[in-house]
Amino acid sequence: MRPAGVLLVVCGLILAATGDPSRDFCSQILNSGVKPGFPKTIKTNDPDVLRAARHSAESFNNCSNDAFLFRESHVSRALVQIVKGLKFMLDLDISRTTCKKTRHSSLDDCSFQTNRTLKQTLSCYSEVWVIPWLQSFKVPVLRCH
Ligand SMILES: *[C@@H]1O[C@H](CO)[C@@H](O)[C@H](O)[C@H]1NC(C)=O
Ligand SMILES: *[C@@H]1O[C@H](CO)[C@@H](O)[C@H](O)[C@H]1NC(C)=O
Repeated sequence: MRPAGVLLVVCGLILAATGDPSRDFCSQILNSGVKPGFPKTIKTNDPDVLRAARHSAESFNNCSNDAFLFRESHVSRALVQIVKGLKFMLDLDISRTTCKKTRHSSLDDCSFQTNRTLKQTLSCYSEVWVIPWLQSFKVPVLRCH
């Protein structure tokens, strides 16, 4: 058995950005003076939650150096908060698929590994910000182990 490694993916972390604040998406939100709503639980099969889970997996793939793409395999808990758009806080699993990373497949077409050597599932916590009117999203927090 391999020891369980801890993976910390912070690529795309914008809360910690120290550059020009006007280009820091999260500070704009946090300094906007708009009181954020209270986080509410939301069904784990809500289409918006599933999209946020997909964004989390894509963000993981973008930051990982694994040879294969990972895809969301289970969402165990979801919270949503209104913060100039929607901020999702998710506990989810992502699992290794059979799709090679170099071949830019759509994750929908990627099935999970069944090979015992290659099978892997990581438990993650992610925060996904979705700004519907800008058709944009960010994954400022993604922690997997
Ligand atoms: C992918 O990673 C790069 C930096 O490594 C980042 O600039 C880009 O925004 C990321 N894209 C997504 C979709 O997360
Ligand atoms: C599982 O993957 C390993 C590593 O790539 C490979 O050596 C092995 O042949 C695979 N097993 C099966 C049953 O496909």
